[in-house]
Amino acid sequence: MQKSICFVFSFLLIHAISAQNTIVLNKDTSTHLIDRNIYGHFAEHLGRCIYGGFYVGEGNKKIPNTNGIRNDVVAALKKLKIPNLRWPGGCFADTYHWKDGIGPKDKRPTMVNKWWGGVTENNSFGTHDFLNMCELLGAEPYMAANIGSGTVEELIDWVQYVSFEGESPMSKLRRENGRDKPWNVKYWGVGNEAWGCGGNMRPEYYADLYRKYATFMSGWSNDNKIFRIASGANSANYNWTETLMKNIPPGMIEGIGLHHYAVIDWKKKGSAADFGEQEYFTTMKRTLFMDELITKNEVILDKYDPRKKVALVVDEWGGWYDVEPGTNPGFLYQQNTMRDAMIAGTTLNIFNNHSERVRMANLAQTINVLQAVILTNEEKMILTPTYHVMEMYNVHQDATYLPVTLKSNDYSVAGEKLPAVSVSASKDKAGLIHISLVNIDLQKAQDVAIDVSSYNLTSVTGRILASSKIQDHNTFENPEKIKPAAFTSASLKANMLTVKLPPFSVVVLELK
Ligand code: AHR
Repeated sequence: MQKSICFVFSFLLIHAISAQNTIVLNKDTSTHLIDRNIYGHFAEHLGRCIYGGFYVGEGNKKIPNTNGIRNDVVAALKKLKIPNLRWPGGCFADTYHWKDGIGPKDKRPTMVNKWWGGVTENNSFGTHDFLNMCELLGAEPYMAANIGSGTVEELIDWVQYVSFEGESPMSKLRRENGRDKPWNVKYWGVGNEAWGCGGNMRPEYYADLYRKYATFMSGWSNDNKIFRIASGANSANYNWTETLMKNIPPGMIEGIGLHHYAVIDWKKKGSAADFGEQEYFTTMKRTLFMDELITKNEVILDKYDPRKKVALVVDEWGGWYDVEPGTNPGFLYQQNTMRDAMIAGTTLNIFNNHSERVRMANLAQTINVLQAVILTNEEKMILTPTYHVMEMYNVHQDATYLPVTLKSNDYSVAGEKLPAVSVSASKDKAGLIHISLVNIDLQKAQDVAIDVSSYNLTSVTGRILASSKIQDHNTFENPEKIKPAAFTSASLKANMLTVKLPPFSVVVLELK
């Protein structure tokens, strides 16, 4: 008893004297898991994400591949434990006619990719390529249906084609194209950004359209209940979420989307790798806004769905800057620096801390587009700082969520302030506790005192992602400039874990 009073006293004293950041790792009272699908990815027919990124063609002799899919990419994404992959868009999804992408490749019609650079899409990467690739990756497919320019019939045919085991015109066609067993696709997006590129709809109209499509989509798969995700709000458009939840009956919707990008200014996004502290601060402010967005969406969802049956699916998130000089503006190719590592670490902490409602998310986008985890240049491939954060954080996938209480110092720039430290924690099936910490402060290291007295812990190890400049990034010439290293600035004494986080660093600790 005396020992614990003494411990609490020293904890408070440390905080008072040194304005140290404090965290309490609370008792394991929750039972919910951090859904691995929070760590999902997104692959659109956009720029070099599919073509040159995932897919280099079956006949490619220069780049090792399996049925046209890059082997190096598959290995890297498997190491990430990629849980799901969203495809074929994005805005592209509402222009995509899936039947153009099946059958002999030399007979497939072409189309113009209206949204992304106006390039010719030859449909050589289609449904079989995507779903077989998901099998290679061990990832669940998440397919976005064409609601904007497609028909109900076209979508039901697609659902049947990929998921129906019995005899039907569509399962027959699938078999003729070389695939006997259905893939059983569970996750379906009912359109994308219906408020914008998906058809510029009003939420009332989309809610009705959703109901119509959702009615005909279910019942095609024996063993895998369909999971329908309504096209969600653009950032802070709470009226979109409210109108959908009010008008779509329970039982007809399993998930509702939300898109939010950390953009400085849509008219002046700024360079991905050449930026100053003020721009960085604004990016982090937009990143942290995700917490408010989710909290306000949760209030709406709780009103209509108090039993939390409907998942909040943040199916597009990440940093968005100007394209790299000299590249096609429609291809959205950008570099990825330590700033992006800060976005990733902070956002994933937010998702973990809201994981009772946020049960799926998709970083935009996997390869060569926006906040990519992988960049390719012909046969070369590099892993970005964002990749490393997602790899370090994959310990949280399907682990039990542990609640934390955080008191953070401020990170201040030009009279504005943000919390410097962010944190989330979980306990995995083997009983190991993982705590992920981010210090977004560019100037100051942060000392953190973590009260772990609710657990009986005896040892700590960790990994860190850090660099000397926030603009640092990996290049094809220097691919390993930024990579995780062992972290040695954590010590555990008498239920108190003390950690020193260097400026702009991400740390994941493992405790047992
Ligand atoms: O991720 C790029 C684009 O951003 C997607 O196609 C669209 O859904 C969003 O506006």
